Amino acid sequence: MIAGRSDTIAVIDFGSQYSQLIVRRVREARVYCELIPHDAPEEEALNLRPSGFILSGGPASVYAKEAPSLPPYVLKSGLPVLGICYGMQLLADELGGRVARAEKREYGVSELHVSDLESPLFAGAPFSQPVWTSHGDFIEQLPAGFKSLGYTANSPLAAMGDEDRKLYGLQFHPEVSHTRHGGHILSNFVQHICGCKETWTPQSFVEQSVRQIKKLVGSGRVICALSGGVDSTVTASLLHEAIGNRLTNVFVDHGLLRKGEVERNRDLFERHLDLSVVYVDARERFLDRLQGVVDPEQKRLIIGEEFIRVFEEEAVKLGPIQYLAQGTLYPDLIESAGTGRGGAARIKAHHNVGGLPSRMAFTLIEPLRYLFKDEVRQVGLELGLPEEMVHRHPFPGPGLAVRIVGEVTPERLAMVRAADSIVMDEIRRAMLYRDIWQCFAVLTPIKSVGVMGDQRTYEYVVAIRAVTSEDGMTADWFPLAPEVLGRISTRIINEVPGINRVVYDVTSKPPSTIEWE
Ligand code: XMP
Repeated sequence: MIAGRSDTIAVIDFGSQYSQLIVRRVREARVYCELIPHDAPEEEALNLRPSGFILSGGPASVYAKEAPSLPPYVLKSGLPVLGICYGMQLLADELGGRVARAEKREYGVSELHVSDLESPLFAGAPFSQPVWTSHGDFIEQLPAGFKSLGYTANSPLAAMGDEDRKLYGLQFHPEVSHTRHGGHILSNFVQHICGCKETWTPQSFVEQSVRQIKKLVGSGRVICALSGGVDSTVTASLLHEAIGNRLTNVFVDHGLLRKGEVERNRDLFERHLDLSVVYVDARERFLDRLQGVVDPEQKRLIIGEEFIRVFEEEAVKLGPIQYLAQGTLYPDLIESAGTGRGGAARIKAHHNVGGLPSRMAFTLIEPLRYLFKDEVRQVGLELGLPEEMVHRHPFPGPGLAVRIVGEVTPERLAMVRAADSIVMDEIRRAMLYRDIWQCFAVLTPIKSVGVMGDQRTYEYVVAIRAVTSEDGMTADWFPLAPEVLGRISTRIINEVPGINRVVYDVTSKPPSTIEWE
């Protein structure tokens, strides 16, 4: 969807855990950028028509045998390059410098002293600032043409630059928030050194997407999978703006929705958004197919497949429709690796990416596929969607099925739905909704012994999860106040039959994921 853009940066990914963050920080400087795996074909990077390259960090040592190398097109392009950590070492090694193993690993916050405040990389930055470091190798000798731009107590060459060729290296991580002025350094690189204009704004995204959708669809028709979540609602609104009534939205009630969700969505679509929506009651067929299925990936695949089948059937009823639009986001693409991107390991099949069956009667339109969630929210506001909808917590496509560990049955669904509704009620009552990325109840398959009204009980355990996150890729558990937890627990035990114990999940992502599955 973003072809033909310039004022773009290509971030070459060498496997750092912070690669995603580089992309975010550059986009915060209002410059579009994408992550390109280091071993991707040259065309993938050059098709972006980048104005410069950033080389990410990575776990390897440049002198290790299997270490990923610098793709030749980077230096051949003559464009500005900023190497970060491993990226810096790679650049130095490639250009004739010397990289060596440090006696002492440098890890954590160090104080950077900028030795060349004239360098455009540090323009407007203070002489000294805390920076985040994490490396075992260091540059022993600079390549010809480079000079040192800064040092820390452990790294005499913490920053280097060849101003003529616009090649730079940082031994620390500017993308990490512990590097106090890291965003400023990155924005100096992309705006002043690469010369990118600040074109990545919600308004420009809407204009470009509308133009591209019009061009792609022509006089064709589109069916959009609309769940009422932020992503699909923004997708539908973009398409509505582009092609008006040649868009038909299909809302599938798969029986795995939250309490009151169908009514809430009807109100939103019809009263606020003027969207044309076909409602499909598919509760029975999803539940039938999920009967006896315990494996989480299996559940996801069945739901993903069934979704598509429902759409195909609706499309046949609606007449010839060539396109299917969905609200796939960038993190969905990256986490469902094996979809052609990144070095990331496959974590789970998001229903709208890895879960798609291979036989499909539609061409996909995914206007948000390179966006992060907070960017989607800004686009939603730009399109005039109500604040309350734009700030809705994410809700997974496979719905409550991933919040029931084990088999999905009508009884278990009723339990998790009731518990979830209490959690949401109490979070809103405590005015915490906007402080939290997501919170919900999970029905575990564990039964435990309890006592109620002098009687022994043997019933299910429900777990409560509340997390903060920037984009769902990483998350921290939220320290819910004991009074709020207490109210949630008391109400669930009193109001939801079948549950006699409530626990609170205090793990971050990683090592856990947000959903339990
Ligand atoms: P995990 O559990 O992978 O979740 O840490 C990350 C974020 O993604 C949401 N999620 C999904 N969203 N379709 C979606 O649209 C899915 O299949 C899906 N699975 C997880 C999850 O709720 C969290 O916000």
